[in-house]
Amino acid sequence: MRKPIIAGNWKMYKTMDEAISFMDALTGKLKESDQADTVICPPAPYLATLVEKAKGSTVRIGAQTMHEEVEGAFTGEISPTMLKSIGVEFVVLGHSERRQYYNETDESVNLKVKSAFEHKLTPIVCVGETLEQREGNETSAVVSDQVKKAFAGVNETDASSSIVAYEPVWAIGTGRTATAEDANEVCAQIRTVLTDLYSETVAQAIRIQYGGSVKPGNIEELLSMSDIDGALVGGASLDPESFAALVEAGSNV
Ligand code: 13P
Repeated sequence: MRKPIIAGNWKMYKTMDEAISFMDALTGKLKESDQADTVICPPAPYLATLVEKAKGSTVRIGAQTMHEEVEGAFTGEISPTMLKSIGVEFVVLGHSERRQYYNETDESVNLKVKSAFEHKLTPIVCVGETLEQREGNETSAVVSDQVKKAFAGVNETDASSSIVAYEPVWAIGTGRTATAEDANEVCAQIRTVLTDLYSETVAQAIRIQYGGSVKPGNIEELLSMSDIDGALVGGASLDPESFAALVEAGSNV
């Protein structure tokens, strides 16, 4: 049985004051008995503060991206060791917005994934098809290819601890969620690809999240599916009330 993992990707939202108020409100709402892993991925300037705020709670902190190198002349970038040195535990890699606006490719995502493992950060590896690809019946091929390329050269032990997020691009921020059945079908395909790459045991250990317009009203159905082990949430992670409701739903699976 895989433990559900609910992660909030705040993207480029909130001031520092708002981030702190959110953490205070969220930690007050989470219950000791909550069974889901809970991760917040705030904008980079708030990472260190939120790591401190999260201490003593069940919330863990993730970054939204990182550079693959440890250091160097890469203006504006953040390295895995920098994240590690402030207590960050997770990093979202290959989000479709990074692929679309910042030229991230399957190859650069693979470098980042390998670097994350090397520096003991848990990557949340994002894959997903565009609307055009879905309508062209290319979903399976596109997503399989993204998974294979992201995990190229990653060993079994590292792969077992990773998290994959299936986020159909057309469902992100649009209010349009994939049906639970469609989302599950792709998540199951991802698991088959991971079985072929590694083994049944490794593939069964990897947690696969669904992301794209997840809300308190649809999370239960999504999480009831056999191959959906959590959610990567944008909009509905910005409000402590709704995010706490998502974590609670993840704890009741
Ligand atoms: P929304 O939940 O706002 O659709 O965003 C999903 C997402 O991109 C999470 O990474």
